[in-house]
Amino acid sequence: MANHRITIKLNDEFEMVDVPANMTLLQMLRDKLARTGTKNGCNAGECGACTVLLNGEPVNSCMVLAVECDGAEVITVEGLAKDGVLDPIQQAIMDHGGVQCGFCTPGILISAKALLDRDSNPSEETIREALVGNLCRCTGYLRIIDAVKDAASRQQALTN
Ligand code: FES
Ligand code: FES
Repeated sequence: MANHRITIKLNDEFEMVDVPANMTLLQMLRDKLARTGTKNGCNAGECGACTVLLNGEPVNSCMVLAVECDGAEVITVEGLAKDGVLDPIQQAIMDHGGVQCGFCTPGILISAKALLDRDSNPSEETIREALVGNLCRCTGYLRIIDAVKDAASRQQALTN
């Protein structure tokens, strides 16, 4: 199958990649660009482990073709920390013990980040809605939800 050359902005750096027409964004990130923080849980749009930000919106990267992303901006879990400093949601989820096996964590961090970028003080109901597509078999979600609430407070403290 012929390859298509695409350019994306990935975690603030431009990348030019040759991809077959049937390659997903998830496969491209993991297999072509070695960004293995994004996980392949179900490869069927069900679990949210592969969630990335595509032009600022959380998407299941296993359900998006790489060629559709030509010219787009993609942020993965590797792009959350800045200059060696964890994003508030990363620090909060660690502090609250919201990580057990960790397989869901990259997707949850990205979904939570997308939420906090559009709502600086989300209600618990809003947090639950934002994470509805991210399955976690380990934590029972409560620590994750507490972490998102705490991250919102930390972000507000940083901006005030
Ligand atoms: S791996 Fe994409 S939704 Fe599960
Ligand atoms: S921490 Fe194991 S699936 Fe969420």
